[in-house]
Amino acid sequence: MPSNIHPVFDKSLGRGSKEESLGQRGMVIWFTGLSGSGKSTLAIDLENRLHNEGLVTMMLDGDNVRTGLNANLGFTEEDRTENIRRIAEVAKLFVSAGVVTLCSFVSPTKDIRHLAKSIVGEEDFHEVYVNASFEKCAERDVKGLYKKALNGEIKGFTGLDSPFEAPTDPFLEIDTENNSPEESGTKLFEVFFPLVRKK
Ligand code: ADX
Repeated sequence: MPSNIHPVFDKSLGRGSKEESLGQRGMVIWFTGLSGSGKSTLAIDLENRLHNEGLVTMMLDGDNVRTGLNANLGFTEEDRTENIRRIAEVAKLFVSAGVVTLCSFVSPTKDIRHLAKSIVGEEDFHEVYVNASFEKCAERDVKGLYKKALNGEIKGFTGLDSPFEAPTDPFLEIDTENNSPEESGTKLFEVFFPLVRKK
């Protein structure tokens, strides 16, 4: 740490007090999966369900964050790592305010997700693997990116010429290829609502 920096982490109002007044437990719910697998859709759905129960949430999403905080980053391994490092630091801040923080990022490699987990802290990090095959995501092609990538117009596209390493031991796996969005949303809510609710 630079010698002229004096953090006040231990002096500022604590997370416990904030969680108590919110009546919830702050945590990170980290959605990982291919582009088009359904990460953002599921995160938005879960956020709405939790919000309807009176919980305070924040959603951080790849395409959104890349228009602001991370607008200077691309898709090289180095930039993806920096993207995730910054997001994890931001997510950690929200958790320290007691907020249920939903992060949806491709976060394609084990190393990148390990970095996120180590920044957030193991106890607060819940990895959700949103699983749909490359073929299925390419068939959906919601943003038209698979067509471009397959035509060679996008280089380093995840799952094509840039790796996606599936999580081997996620907290939860959601198979969006064989389950409806409604089924997946219900499952997520059933798993996470009891974990974040305190009142
Ligand atoms: S990550 O790899 O750094 O975690 P992030 O989730 O922020 O990626 O952004 C992924 C989104 O950027 C995709 O959903 C897609 O819309 C868009 N995108 C643009 N180029 C690429 C690419 N080469 N690989 C993957 N996604 C891309």
